[in-house]
Amino acid sequence: MGINGVEGDKTLQSICYKRGSLRLLDQRKLPLETTYLDIKDTKDGWEAIKEMVVRGAPAIAIAAALSLVVEVSNLASFNGTSDDAATFLRKKLDYLVSSRPTAVNLSDAAVKLNEVIDKAAAEAKEVNSVFQEAYIEATEAMLEYDVMSNKAIGSYGANFLQKHLTDNQKITILTHCNTGRLSSLVFNSFASVAIGFLCKSNREEAGRNCDKALHAQGVLERAYCTETRPFNQGSRLTAFELVHENIPATLIADSAAAALMNAGQVKAVVVGADRVTANGDTANKIGTYSLAVSANRHGIPFYVAAPLTSIDLFLSTGQQIEIEERSPKELLHTRGGLGEQVAASGISVWNPAFDVTPANLISGIITEKGVITKNGADTFDIAEFVRKTSGDL
Ligand code: MRU
Repeated sequence: MGINGVEGDKTLQSICYKRGSLRLLDQRKLPLETTYLDIKDTKDGWEAIKEMVVRGAPAIAIAAALSLVVEVSNLASFNGTSDDAATFLRKKLDYLVSSRPTAVNLSDAAVKLNEVIDKAAAEAKEVNSVFQEAYIEATEAMLEYDVMSNKAIGSYGANFLQKHLTDNQKITILTHCNTGRLSSLVFNSFASVAIGFLCKSNREEAGRNCDKALHAQGVLERAYCTETRPFNQGSRLTAFELVHENIPATLIADSAAAALMNAGQVKAVVVGADRVTANGDTANKIGTYSLAVSANRHGIPFYVAAPLTSIDLFLSTGQQIEIEERSPKELLHTRGGLGEQVAASGISVWNPAFDVTPANLISGIITEKGVITKNGADTFDIAEFVRKTSGDL
């Protein structure tokens, strides 16, 4: 199975998987170089996630699970009982989860895969191909669900924004970090939502095979993306995707966002999420909270676009989210730590990778099952939405 790309459209294919083989696009090298790294086992997978070869909440989860699939597929034989095999797999999943803590998608995938492992272990006394197959099939099913859910997010988001924001006028959207197809499996959240606003002629020129439900023809005036310091996911990845998709787009410095809003150039802000807690508080790339505060100050609606795998109903508020701190080098050197030193040696650095935007600054959460709104109340009832929509899609 080849995933995560429009056929013949290799440049944005971040995860290339077929049974027994996994290759990850090295996103650190974009947009100037397109290099793929072979991932042979969970150690390679863990390092690729930690070092940001692959990043973005949904992509991290799938890349991690697939790295274990590749390791399992290539195991010649496993000597031991099914309990031994289950312990082996559980340990590997724990190890993968330790790579990056904030995005819940990875631990959510691990919980689901652990359930599959437990079931397979209970059914088979010995390790056999059925056991191995159960894990591989569950991961591949997860991957297919992600593709579907990402398309549905784009569709719901485009329809919702068109209905609520356009007033028959073209609109401008601001986004932060990278929530496009590099961070997931196909067009996700922002890119899908933005693509939904592409005019028909643009889509045809671009030769894209967009979902019919995304038609909100000719509605997007312009997409603005922030640089997203310090790692520059916005300038390196989102700008690349927007240009690639022929979406009219402008790159701004993170610090220009409030001025852009004040100039009346932003109709809505749409960002992704790494973890949304039960009350709607949302962890996303550092700088998201500042955008939400500015949007609120300027009366601009602020939307989070995320699959339900980014929702963590076990945490009641965002204060409970573990925020990953990354290397000082990302600030001390250019290109998010990959280039030459620019800051004074000896300065101390605080480099949280994410921040939490409180639910009261969020207008709606766009998911693959629909848009969660407050329905006139002050708070989101996410658990109720999840319960009501379970089984849909
Ligand atoms: O550190 P990163 O690049 O993995 O951070 C990614 C983000 O914050 C994205 O906005 C988020 O994962 C949403 S991706 C659909």
